[in-house]
Amino acid sequence: MKKKIAIIFGTRPEIIKLSPVIKLCQKMRVPFFCVHTGQHFSYEMDEIFFKELGLASPKYKLNIKSKAPFRQGDHTGRMLIELEEILLKEMPCAIIVQGDTNTVLAAALTAEKISTTESYTGFQIKVAHVEAGLRSFDRSMPEETNRFIVDHLSDYLFVPTQKAKIQLLKEGMPSNRIRVTGNTIVDAVKNSLKSAQAKSSILEKLKINQKKYVLLTLHRQENVDSKKIFAGLLKGIALTAQKTRLPVIFPIHPRTLKRLNNFGLKLPREIISIRPVGFLDFLWLEANAKLIMTDSGGAQEEACILKVPCLTLRNNTERPETVAAGANIVAGRQPQGILKAALKMLKTKNNWKNPLGDGKASKRILKTILR
Ligand code: UD1
Ligand code: UDP
Repeated sequence: MKKKIAIIFGTRPEIIKLSPVIKLCQKMRVPFFCVHTGQHFSYEMDEIFFKELGLASPKYKLNIKSKAPFRQGDHTGRMLIELEEILLKEMPCAIIVQGDTNTVLAAALTAEKISTTESYTGFQIKVAHVEAGLRSFDRSMPEETNRFIVDHLSDYLFVPTQKAKIQLLKEGMPSNRIRVTGNTIVDAVKNSLKSAQAKSSILEKLKINQKKYVLLTLHRQENVDSKKIFAGLLKGIALTAQKTRLPVIFPIHPRTLKRLNNFGLKLPREIISIRPVGFLDFLWLEANAKLIMTDSGGAQEEACILKVPCLTLRNNTERPETVAAGANIVAGRQPQGILKAALKMLKTKNNWKNPLGDGKASKRILKTILR
């Protein structure tokens, strides 16, 4: 039987960051198929990216929606059951997963379970982890557990930076499994920035001017699932908007909207919330922002790539390279701390060097797997 690869994803950032790998597979006629777990399912968190990035519909589209904030075991478990069916039927020689979501954990674990019962199944599946080696060293984050386990199950560890490689070596991973490739988000930004410039009319739609607004995203469990922390963050963001006289544009993640409504919190008037936007509009909003405030991994990276200063609204980051470059600051979650960090970052010269890669990560990843 001809060898094939399964590319498995389920959320917005995975679709975006795997899109350059998928497109390269198509171009190089690599036998592959895609599985979407359905973890993200709203049009603007899912389908819009297939349209904008020119991706075909996945061969398998599951319907395993998250019930977050509860029942994460049930969510991950249902994925294990359905992914096992598909992988046993298709018998790929490898799977590619990206990042640190429940989808990634379930896919890697399913492949591992099949491989360790080779005497029955008759085949093995290698696990290729894209964006391996990231650590926040904060085990209260579901993502930290996911990435740690997936790294330790993986046969191919595609790390974005040398720092991530050193971390994996410290954890005892053999160096022949690790390849420094750069982050595929650089490939994705390079592929789409011109289209964003040509096609996006988001600034006109929102009636905002270049470099005259702050862009905000928030969705991390540890930020929006506690009323006190969420309210404190909103206070700090509003304070910054008042002092800098910059309005804040806030494409609001479904989780965040749910929590805002459940808690009965009201957005301060300086914060203009909109529905999540597609990748092109989001890139254009990022590229033209004076400052980005976020708890998103992808947004921290994109800010660094696009040379826009970034405030990470968390107590840690698994992307310290962006901080070392001078592009990002870990601002914490206290109102005065957020304001102080914002005023500091607004003075930066935005002339740092991008530490996240050269836009050829997907080529390196595929070349290694095919070899
Ligand atoms: C998940 C990932 C997180 C990643 C983020 C990207 C886990 C544990 N978390 O977090 O690492 O940064 O995706 O955005 O895997 N919802 C919708 N429509 C959607 C998607 C989600 O309504 O399209 C709702 C879900 O029903 C759920 C909540 O939002 O109630 C959270 O979704 P979930 O996928 O569990 O977590 P995220 O916060 O999106
Ligand atoms: N993004 C988008 N529209 C939005 C907000 C974000 O297209 O309204 C993109 C963004 O460009 C980045 C990715 O989504 O590539 C980040 O996803 P998210 O913040 O949900 O997850 P994380 O990166 O934190 O895992």
